Amino acid sequence: MTIHYDPAIRTFHLKSKSSSYILQITKEGLPVHLYWGPQVERVSSTHPLVTIERCSFSPNVSAEDKTISRDTLPSEFPAYGNGDFREPAIELRLADGTVVSDFRYIEYKIASGKPQLEGLPATYAETDEEAETLELVLEDAKTGLRAILLYTAYADKDVITRSVRIEHHGSERVVLTRLLSASLDLHRTDLDFVHLSGTWTRERHVYKRALVPGLHRVDSKRGASSHQHNPFFALSSKDATEEHGEVYGFSLVYSGNFLAQAEVDQYGMTRAEIGINPFGFEWTLEPGSHFQSPEAVLVRSNEGFGGMSRTYHQLYRTRLCRGQFRDKTRPILINNWEATYFNFNAEKILDIARVGHELGIELFVLDDGWFGERDSDNSSLGDWVVDKKKLPEGLGKLGESLTALGMEFGLWFEPEMVSPNSNLYRKHPDWCLHVPGHARTEARQQLVLDLSRQDVQDYIVEAVSAVLDSAPITYVKWDMNRNMTEIGSALLPADRQGETAHRYILGLYEVLERIVTRFPHVLFESCSGGGGRFDPGMLYYMPQTWTSDDTDAVERLKIQYGTSMVYPASAMGAHVSAVPNHQVHRMSPLETRGHVAMSGNFGYELDLSKLPQEDRELIREQVALYKELRSLIQQGEFYRLLSPFEGTETAWMFVSEEKNEAFAAYFKVLAEPNPPLKRLRLKGLDPNKAYKISHTGEVVRGDELMHWGLPLPMLEGDYRSALFVLKEV
Ligand code: DGJ
Repeated sequence: MTIHYDPAIRTFHLKSKSSSYILQITKEGLPVHLYWGPQVERVSSTHPLVTIERCSFSPNVSAEDKTISRDTLPSEFPAYGNGDFREPAIELRLADGTVVSDFRYIEYKIASGKPQLEGLPATYAETDEEAETLELVLEDAKTGLRAILLYTAYADKDVITRSVRIEHHGSERVVLTRLLSASLDLHRTDLDFVHLSGTWTRERHVYKRALVPGLHRVDSKRGASSHQHNPFFALSSKDATEEHGEVYGFSLVYSGNFLAQAEVDQYGMTRAEIGINPFGFEWTLEPGSHFQSPEAVLVRSNEGFGGMSRTYHQLYRTRLCRGQFRDKTRPILINNWEATYFNFNAEKILDIARVGHELGIELFVLDDGWFGERDSDNSSLGDWVVDKKKLPEGLGKLGESLTALGMEFGLWFEPEMVSPNSNLYRKHPDWCLHVPGHARTEARQQLVLDLSRQDVQDYIVEAVSAVLDSAPITYVKWDMNRNMTEIGSALLPADRQGETAHRYILGLYEVLERIVTRFPHVLFESCSGGGGRFDPGMLYYMPQTWTSDDTDAVERLKIQYGTSMVYPASAMGAHVSAVPNHQVHRMSPLETRGHVAMSGNFGYELDLSKLPQEDRELIREQVALYKELRSLIQQGEFYRLLSPFEGTETAWMFVSEEKNEAFAAYFKVLAEPNPPLKRLRLKGLDPNKAYKISHTGEVVRGDELMHWGLPLPMLEGDYRSALFVLKEV
């Protein structure tokens, strides 16, 4: 059994693979956090919660027991207004204008399996044996609101998922102003706060800072999970490395405004919280209604950051991604964006595709510019009708020509947007997010459609479906190139305007669900100016994401390394582009560009028809090699070896589940004068297996390769790389 209730001490013990997560209901009916760490057999102590009387500044729950104060209790669901002065998980505004709430335990239920979350993406269990779920029901007596805390423990993974459902059983309208998905108080502060932050073309760099008293937070107020901060943070022990030490991961399955934070309190506890950002959020609860929070995925590792990442990778790859492509190897693609931008016609597309096919590439992706009158980024979003000036015979014919060449056909869309210069906007000026009396702030000459509206959702589903029905399309790149401003909806009443941003995300999820269900044979890749919405919510609908608009090989090392903290290689689109690179103007060898891109879902994004024969030959080899390795890369276990954040070298590797095959990539960004001879210590191999190393033909045992290391070749010049393929003999 994964979840055990001990009625004598009212504790719930959630066991996941090698961890225990224990909480207790106090005699006052407050759910408190006791422990999350290496698995313990059972709680043998009869008084596991230790409390003492503190000063008068820590108020008591009741006069009978002065040792119990909300200010000092480790809480599982803190509320505001009656003694807990730290950051709450829930806040309300009542009809009488007050904001105090007091949720107390009512009952619990334990069931096998994992329920779906209404209208929201979430991880799942394929069988009832994989996981068990605890529902803890709390009630706020004054309002009649019930909070159902959902905890799922996976039996064979160190994963606990949490979410909260609010049900209104009372009689008066209540406004929810904050509802976080998970909140728990760890009994330690000797930790670092690790997060993934950056900007457009520099997403998900790894940052680490020591916890000190007070708040440590990353968030998004942009209406999307954002380039700036990923909906994730980790708390790691001071000695945590890639292989050793304790790491607690918190990841949110949500694509909108989020809050992720740790608060160190006065008595040596760290409150870790993640959920929808309360900033700008309100949700009116009428009697009889309910509200479901997104899911937080909590991962604990005793094997450092590498252990945490591999748990997330396996979970997100196999129990978050869905559909035909979850377990299928992904095609190698050629995308025309950096090759042509908006300036193309059918002949140009077919020229590139022909060379691509000749080199072994499998899918042609036609990017932005194929619809309306889109010769630049200042028009036509919303008008999803082919531009006959560029493609006189339409998408169907282009698709047929590509298919005849032996290439699959992929297409770009940006369905959530509208250009003011579009027929759609002229017809429906109120379909975008806007606030009367304020200018409609443009970004890239576009506005955001109001996906909280049913008519807008229906329009998008129909417009995208009509195009997908009109041509043999097997791949869609779903882009989104700006963040929200003037967040208001023409259809919502005044007292529900604060719901718009979350309703947008719910509307987006609804649209995606309808489209991916209708087109199960299409592989969807999400994108937001590269990685501006690289989050678990999107992965539930689309199993891969365009990692970054930065295609420079050197920049990609940091971006892909940081992204790999949470997301599997199968989720990361990675393409070889031209030099000088369009984002940073760097010249790097084609070999290195290939090696970096091969560490994700591989593709090219340059004008193949203009490449010299020598480059084409190298591309042919890269494509062939990737085909040989791709199931290992897309489904294998990932190990980080050298960090781009700690020097000018980077290395990582993939190992197959059976440990009979591995692939390591080493990158040396800057040349050194008279360099030392180095060895690269590998990870994840079977110490007792012997592996043949591709480039030398030597057979070396796994233990030697992991402890002593693989001798690295002398690489001359900047931006160099080497690959090693290992096969068990
Ligand atoms: C942003 C994407 O990240 C790019 O790859 C490209 O599709 C452009 N949008 C097209 O406008």
